[in-house]
Amino acid sequence: MAQKQRVFSGVQPTGKLHLGNYVGAIKQWADNQDAYDNIFCVVDLHAVTIPENVDPKQFRAKSLEVAALYLACGIDPDKSTVFLQSHVAEHSEMAWLLNCVTPLGWLYRMTQFKAKAGSNESVGTGLLDYPVLMAADILLYDTHRVPVGEDQKQHIEFTRDLAQRVNNMFPGADLVIPEPMIPPAGARVMGLDDPMVKMSKSIGETKKGHSIGLLDAPGTVKKAIMSAQTDSGNEARFDHAGPGVRNLLDLYEVLSGQGREAIEAEFHGQGYGKLKKALVEQVVAALEPVQTRYAELTGSPDYLLSILRQGAERARGIAATTQARLRDAMGFVAP
Ligand code: TRP
Repeated sequence: MAQKQRVFSGVQPTGKLHLGNYVGAIKQWADNQDAYDNIFCVVDLHAVTIPENVDPKQFRAKSLEVAALYLACGIDPDKSTVFLQSHVAEHSEMAWLLNCVTPLGWLYRMTQFKAKAGSNESVGTGLLDYPVLMAADILLYDTHRVPVGEDQKQHIEFTRDLAQRVNNMFPGADLVIPEPMIPPAGARVMGLDDPMVKMSKSIGETKKGHSIGLLDAPGTVKKAIMSAQTDSGNEARFDHAGPGVRNLLDLYEVLSGQGREAIEAEFHGQGYGKLKKALVEQVVAALEPVQTRYAELTGSPDYLLSILRQGAERARGIAATTQARLRDAMGFVAP
């Protein structure tokens, strides 16, 4: 049998993981676990690139929370590798090797750096270097596919360019050139308060009514959906609805598993209250098992840590092999 393709994805332990992350990403990965060799990494080293935002106590709790939520959403540690980036030292070492090959101009061009750095002259070097660490994450595992949002496309292009450059400069490095896996537009959940922006982890953390957190209580879910932005019409057809209503319809479609015709027959021509109430029920039902598993996992922190250690051990094995190949190609003396 042909070897399974490797999928690597990372999520920063910052902000509030939400329904969009679940339906647009984590749930799909969980459903596809048998088709790929999946590696899911909580990228805690990336989270410290804006050190002003790091409160050590919260940071530690958040890293564990995100890992537990992955498992609670159905990522099975017997099938997929889940670990914390900082537990595998090869990530930092690989970033150094790649740093030395990365033209500074490539980093100054990155739009995310420009947006995050703004006019702040005291930004950390790590923020500029963020794309190199991300390239290290991906290249260390000979990754074929990287599921990411549209906003991360430039980072994947950067990773591909860098891998080509290393392969040209150091024959034998044989870094695998990864492909992005961008979810189709329909799989994107938009903000409930503003359907023109994607539901966001960082906005959701501070702004009520923007997102539905995976750990939100039913009452909070209800409030957010019932006050979601719609329009004054009664159009509930997928191809004609305004963006706010379309967002609710799309979510209802994914969560209920019903066909579009049935959904339109049920809600078209009515006030949006009916659609919203039905959606509240679907969302609460979808989150309930996730929250139950999450509570179990946080109730046994030793178990969670043992999963993360096992994950790190497997990851280290793969990462060390790739890194040894690069070191050798570059001419380092083997230890
Ligand atoms: N930059 C990604 C984001 O903010 C997170 C990330 C870090 C990542 N390393 C990665 C994603 C490697 C995919 C693969 O969403």
